[in-house]
Amino acid sequence: MDMSRAEKCAEFVKKITGDFVPEIGIILGSGMGGIFNGADIKYIVDYADIPGFPKATVEGHQGRFLFVEYKGKNIVVMQGRVHYYEGYSIQETVIPVCVMKLLGIEALLLTNAAGGINKELDAGDIMIITDHISMFIPSPLTGRNDERYGERFPDMSCVYNIHLTETLKNIFTRNNLEVKTGVYVQTAGSNYETPSEIRMFRILGCDAVGMSTVCEAMTAHYLGIKVCGISLITNKAAGLSQAPLSHTEVRKIADISSAKISVMIKQFIENL
Ligand code: HPA
Repeated sequence: MDMSRAEKCAEFVKKITGDFVPEIGIILGSGMGGIFNGADIKYIVDYADIPGFPKATVEGHQGRFLFVEYKGKNIVVMQGRVHYYEGYSIQETVIPVCVMKLLGIEALLLTNAAGGINKELDAGDIMIITDHISMFIPSPLTGRNDERYGERFPDMSCVYNIHLTETLKNIFTRNNLEVKTGVYVQTAGSNYETPSEIRMFRILGCDAVGMSTVCEAMTAHYLGIKVCGISLITNKAAGLSQAPLSHTEVRKIADISSAKISVMIKQFIENL
């Protein structure tokens, strides 16, 4: 992976954040942007101000890094991510992960809004991601490899860190929530799927579908960052309910359920 663009972005950000070194990165999905409102925010850096940084363009996604101190831990939060369907190359969509690596993160929590393929998953549920299927998007790791950062042929047999995932599961149990876990598949988007595509994904072993996260998880794992992920199920996937899929509906459910996810994320940070 060519890190030169991310290196320039990270240098720019460091000029603002000085000696604030984040240990944990969090990428907030659709509708979850407000989770750290009212927290002890030390710095805010708009993506648009960082030369060479891709900009988030989707409604419901802001575009900025928050540098937050929470319960004695330094965190960098991404309010809004960069999606492949916005027209960026897959390598560009993972520049933010590379930048957070260069800023110092050792662990990354990925969150997203997703459609439930597994019939057990209903709108409003949270699913902990235990594995993913990346084959429906290009790999972000193609191109020249910089051996200083990672291997040419990285192992992907355990992308989602077992310790972090167990920590997430324990938080669910402690809050009397049933723990749902599963496999997430990323599509290129920007369209939602057809019912036949969803049937295919179910046969392939996918539990939830969305348009992000996998490329970021692969990159973070390649860079040696410990990864974990949660999907907020905003709808049953295509063909599993009568209602047509809409971004407005996805956002509505994400907004309603973000309080629940906010509690989990904060407890997760405390327990790291
Ligand atoms: N499909 C793809 N992406 C999504 C969905 C879906 O059903 N819901 C939220 N993001």
